[in-house]
Amino acid sequence: MDELNEIEKEFDSQLLEIKDEKKLEDVRIAFLGKKGKITNSMSKIREIAVEKRKEFGQKINLIKSKIENSLSSLKEKLENEIIQRKIANEKPIDITLPVKSSTGSLHPRTTLQKEIEDVFVSMGFSIEDGYEVETEFNNFDAVNVPKSHPARDMQDTFWLDNGQLLKTQTSAAQNRILRKYNGTLKAIFPGRCFRNEALDHSHENTFFQIEGMLVDHNVSVANLIYFMKKMLSEVFKTDINIRLRPGFFPFVEPGFEMDATCTFCKGKGCPTCKNSGWLELCPCGMIHPNVFRLAGLDPNVYSGFAFGLGFDRLVMLKTGLDDIRYLNSGNLKVLSQFGVKA
Ligand code: DAH
Repeated sequence: MDELNEIEKEFDSQLLEIKDEKKLEDVRIAFLGKKGKITNSMSKIREIAVEKRKEFGQKINLIKSKIENSLSSLKEKLENEIIQRKIANEKPIDITLPVKSSTGSLHPRTTLQKEIEDVFVSMGFSIEDGYEVETEFNNFDAVNVPKSHPARDMQDTFWLDNGQLLKTQTSAAQNRILRKYNGTLKAIFPGRCFRNEALDHSHENTFFQIEGMLVDHNVSVANLIYFMKKMLSEVFKTDINIRLRPGFFPFVEPGFEMDATCTFCKGKGCPTCKNSGWLELCPCGMIHPNVFRLAGLDPNVYSGFAFGLGFDRLVMLKTGLDDIRYLNSGNLKVLSQFGVKA
């Protein structure tokens, strides 16, 4: 028993000396380890007289759990102290400060698309979504493209194994949108289009268009001219003049090519407009009666205009980029120059 009292006393005095986790571990090993004092005494229990064994056993268990408890609460205290010290040494973090690192910038296409959408929304248009994978019907039949039209050829269209295709024009959404509104509507639908093209500075196999439609009663070419003039003048922040030339597209009658005064030379003539003072910007026209019929609308009741803005060309005019391939390149050295911070 004396031996046990000795161990307890010794532990009490060593406990006071523990100032860090290393010392704590040393003390634990010295008392509770395989060759520790408590373990050692426990193995001697058989040498104790039978009548005293019970008392010895109880006492040593008591001391053992006292040591275990003291060490574990001291361990917790030491760990806590370490954390407190760390916190005290840390500089306070102000989570309301602005981020320092660069957050990147918007693609020039995104910036211009937002601008154009804002202009149209301000004129009462809604923004609709088109699909990228389309049916042959929506992409061609519904917009009055004849079965024999060369655009349906393998060379122009990316066909999928299931007979569907990657849409070659945003016009592919016309039928769905006409059916959705089933009458009067004002909508634009920007989207990515795909054509099996050889690439050069002005041709990409993946490009963007912004299509628009206005359907109502007694819509005329004058309405078309007004909206296009207004949109372009807002985008280029200057008064833009436009002119229409005849153009053929199966889904409009009459169809036009719309030119705008050259934004670089203001119509005087420069290399960008090949000295003509005009830029060819946007095919458009009055919606063909067949397009209405195929969407279940009566062309004697409804009329409207449609346009298909070559959006990438507009981005190039706005940024001065001379190669369409930059737009899909992911080349940050080029694209970030025009970036608006996201
Ligand atoms: N979808 C035509 C194309 O990709 C462009 C187009 C022309 C759209 C005339 C129209 C339009 O809405 O009226 O070549």
